[in-house]
Amino acid sequence: MRGRCYPTGDLSSIIGLGSARSARHDLAGGVRRTLAGSFLAALEPLEGHGMRQVGMLDLRREFELFRDEVRRTTLEVLDSQQFIGGPAVTELEDALRQRVGVRCAVAVSNGSDALLCTLMALGIGPGDEVIVPAFTFFATAGAVARVGATPVFVDIDPRTFNLHPERTAAAMTARTKAIMPVHLYGQCADMDALNALGRQHGVPVIEDACQALGATYRDRPAGALGTAACISFYPTKNLGGFGEGGMIFTDDEELGRIARQLRNHGESQRYVHERVGGNFRLDTLKAAILLVKLRFWDEFTRRRRHNAARYDELLRETPVTPPYVAPPCQAVYHQYTILADRRDELQAFLKEAGIGTVVYYPVPLHLQRCFAALGYRPGSLPATEEACRRVLSIPCHPMLEDEDLQYVAGTIARFYGQQRAGARDAVCSTRKA
Ligand SMILES: Cc1ncc(COP(=O)(O)O)c(C=O)c1O
Repeated sequence: MRGRCYPTGDLSSIIGLGSARSARHDLAGGVRRTLAGSFLAALEPLEGHGMRQVGMLDLRREFELFRDEVRRTTLEVLDSQQFIGGPAVTELEDALRQRVGVRCAVAVSNGSDALLCTLMALGIGPGDEVIVPAFTFFATAGAVARVGATPVFVDIDPRTFNLHPERTAAAMTARTKAIMPVHLYGQCADMDALNALGRQHGVPVIEDACQALGATYRDRPAGALGTAACISFYPTKNLGGFGEGGMIFTDDEELGRIARQLRNHGESQRYVHERVGGNFRLDTLKAAILLVKLRFWDEFTRRRRHNAARYDELLRETPVTPPYVAPPCQAVYHQYTILADRRDELQAFLKEAGIGTVVYYPVPLHLQRCFAALGYRPGSLPATEEACRRVLSIPCHPMLEDEDLQYVAGTIARFYGQQRAGARDAVCSTRKA
């Protein structure tokens, strides 16, 4: 299997379970050692317990699909000795700009810098407020703080986990300079309501689409729904790169031009600086490899959606709440996140059974120590805090087999079945006493 490239088609026929598993075992020793301590070690359970292992990701198995093409591409870049920018970066910008359907795409160093650079390009700074959810990855609010503005944390809709439009409206002040919704877990926020609010107050809406490339809202792609949008190519993302990377999308050509300058220290021409920017550039090699991965992306997206639909069926008889997808949205399932009672016990039980899970996110941003001066308290954002206590993301990546999905769902059912049995025993023993 190794050494051939299959851009489309059903991946299970492309890489059979047996060959993939053995390839993985070939790699396991050497690769795992070099990756020890990396995010992979956290996301993939260790092999060799003699039971089925289902990790949150299986990047090594994915890599089998494009190993040779990546090798070839890597050599081409090395031979060219061009490491920053260049045709690969432009090609990646063009490819994604066309897919998302916007006028400008600016490749940058990572998703966090995409957010930072966008806020800088919009001229947001000290004294300004930016509305963000508190239930997101740190970078959303971190970018606001990095430009010297104040993140204003707003509670979420408990069903979608995304910014609550009415609460957002209530939080708008004369100092609000942007609304920054996050399309969490790969489902778009309520963009009709948030864009209407942005228009009403004359402020931009910046999509944090870092988890949502491939999702749609009223059939329009995430990334094309607001004033500007930011995505991430972090290796665990839907279009994950070989290292850090990100991109800014916008239909506003002036905004795109400024972002492009800012990514290169505000240079308008060589050694002429129109504004103070940073080094937010994307490496050539990363762009070239992303172009290889892009050819697999539609199939990977299809498989994530298939896995999610299958979990919806398989989990129906269990007491967990599957993800709710609002009618205008087609989610891309960056994560398949359930709401679970006794979440931590369930997570430990799944771990024992060789199943990787992650809590995204256990601590809401309004209660992070670095934002203590903003004065939020436990109870300030109840829906966010409740989500932090109850969410659990289970494996949904494109390389899963149906047996994996059945095993995960069956183990969840077993956990609650055991609990029910345990509760019955407890009742019986109470009665006996
Ligand atoms: C919602 C969200 N925003 C921002 C980021 C930051 O992206 P990056 O890790 O590429 O800096 C991430 C990625 O983890 C994210 O999930």
